[in-house]
Amino acid sequence: MDKTMKTILVTGGNGQLGSELLAISKNSPHTFIFTDYLELDITKEKTITTFFENHTIDYVINCAAYTAVDKAEEDSLNATLLNTQGIQFLAHACSSFSIPLIHISTDYVFDGKSHIPYVETSLVNPQSVYGTTKLQGEQYAL
Ligand SMILES: NC(=O)c1ccc[n+]([C@@H]2O[C@H](COP(=O)([O-])OP(=O)(O)OC[C@H]3O[C@@H](n4cnc5c(N)ncnc54)[C@H](OP(=O)(O)O)[C@@H]3O)[C@@H](O)[C@H]2O)c1
Repeated sequence: MDKTMKTILVTGGNGQLGSELLAISKNSPHTFIFTDYLELDITKEKTITTFFENHTIDYVINCAAYTAVDKAEEDSLNATLLNTQGIQFLAHACSSFSIPLIHISTDYVFDGKSHIPYVETSLVNPQSVYGTTKLQGEQYAL
């Protein structure tokens, strides 16, 4: 087997970013496995572990997220479950199986008051439930 060929798991693959990756993947030499919560619910730790035991995965791109920014203000439990705890489970499993995890941040981790463009090292200061849960998730991922 060609060792340069990689198998890339995409979680939350039915969403906006996942759909873009699906389009790109059609021209890729690599093998993509697209999953959404029905195939791989990232809030279920054992489900992730079982999936990793049954598939050989080289990289994970996590597109799963609770992205309803306004709704999250009244639904912080579910936003936290997915954006924070789900990422904790996924990051932990990736670490255990030595699989690099690519996770996506958001402008909502910043407070929007900067007059210069944000960079990865800019000071975070989320102003919403969505931004807070996303920040906590990416801190676990880091
Ligand atoms: N789109 C943007 O403009 C934008 C900008 C900045 C950052 N981002 C970041 O990019 C990433 C992807 O965002 P997106 O816009 O593609 O989000 P999205 O369209 O809301 O897609 C998220 C996907 O995750 C699925 N999902 C929900 N619960 C799940 C679970 N427990 N396990 C696995 N999958 C689950 C959703 O399914 P259901 O729809 O059925 O719930 C949906 O298909 C997120 O981290 C987001 O914060 C996006």
